[in-house]
Amino acid sequence: MELTREQLMIQKMAREFARKDLAPQAAERDQKHEYPAESLKKMGELGLLGMLVPEEYGGEDMDTVSYALAMSEVAYACASTAVIMSVHNSICCGSLLRFGSEEQKQQYLVPMARGEFIASFALSEPEAGSDPASMSTTAEKDGDFYVLNGTKRWITGGATSELFIVLAKTDPDADHKGISAFLITRDLQGFSTGRLEDKMGQCASDTTDLLFSDCRVPADRMLGKEGEGFIVAMSGLDDGRIGIAALSLGLGQAALDEAVNYSKQRVQFGRPIADNQGLRWMVADMATDVEAARLLVLNAAAKKDKKEKCSKEASMAKLHASEMANRVTGQALQIHGGYGYTREFPVERFYRDARVLTIYEGTSQIQKIVIANEVLGDKKK
Ligand code: CAA
Repeated sequence: MELTREQLMIQKMAREFARKDLAPQAAERDQKHEYPAESLKKMGELGLLGMLVPEEYGGEDMDTVSYALAMSEVAYACASTAVIMSVHNSICCGSLLRFGSEEQKQQYLVPMARGEFIASFALSEPEAGSDPASMSTTAEKDGDFYVLNGTKRWITGGATSELFIVLAKTDPDADHKGISAFLITRDLQGFSTGRLEDKMGQCASDTTDLLFSDCRVPADRMLGKEGEGFIVAMSGLDDGRIGIAALSLGLGQAALDEAVNYSKQRVQFGRPIADNQGLRWMVADMATDVEAARLLVLNAAAKKDKKEKCSKEASMAKLHASEMANRVTGQALQIHGGYGYTREFPVERFYRDARVLTIYEGTSQIQKIVIANEVLGDKKK
């Protein structure tokens, strides 16, 4: 796929920012579990936090292909920063754009698109991960308010974001049709951040529970119509999965580049290890894997840019790219030998950061359900 001049310019801008600003700090932030607040501020100034939002709402009005290219560049340098960027741009800005009222867009989307604050998405619960329709958080109508009760889990940015799109059951007796979406801010009484997860990777991005205890939410904070929340979530995840696929691509490319550099420098048996055919075949497999992911990511993004339904393409891109990132970071670590198992080289972080990619925003198994249902045209669980 040939990129346009504008797409190449955005890629270059994101690459320069990511390699100069993000990459040098990524290892330390990972070790200190430090949120990239300053970098996100700069990303807001560069337009990287409202990429898909029209200019009238403070965004950059870029296409999804440009967004995917920029996402890969950010992930190449720091996967933790990239996941914050993905959830904010794809799911949160996207959902406000699709389902928000004009007032909600002015109040929330405009500052989000300018990067003045970061937003998060709260769908999962302790007992409802792959099956979000079985959620138990409730939102009971009380006059001009909804009263929220329940716990959300695995929320990227739970301790740091300022706005949350929260899904809750307005009709606990209905299945997915009883779910509604709400815009929740930190000032609401009865809303708090719960336990912070002690994660294996992507440690500079916090993941927490969100707790709701008789939290009174003004009725005009509902995003979309009552009962429309599941559709808000699913269409948001179509976009989100393109973001995570692009993130996976960037991480895989970073691991491949590290492996290539190392294999040319590391001398064993009197010659660089890159001279060994066993290793050359590994590099060939890795590069092919990365390239296939790139094509799937760009294909899904291009389909979305044509305003066509892209659930299948997004899931294919997410499935392949996230599995690829796990394979390629593992192979890159193997090529580094014992050094790869230490924090002296970035592949150790890449390997840990890759692991969650086949889990969040729908596991690989969930992506296969979506793909198979679309291909066979006979929905099954
Ligand atoms: N776009 C719009 N609507 C959609 C849709 C889509 N992509 N997918 C489904 N729908 C609609 C269906 O048309 C259907 O509508 P009707 O009732 O009007 O017919 C409705 O939603 C229900 O669809 P299904 O019956 O297919 O729903 P299901 O309960 O069988 O679930 C599923 C399908 C694919 C398994 C879905 O539950 C799913 O994606 N599960 C995984 C959840 C997930 O990805 N969680 C990630 C958490 S977010 C996260 O990780 C973010 C982070 O912080 C990093």
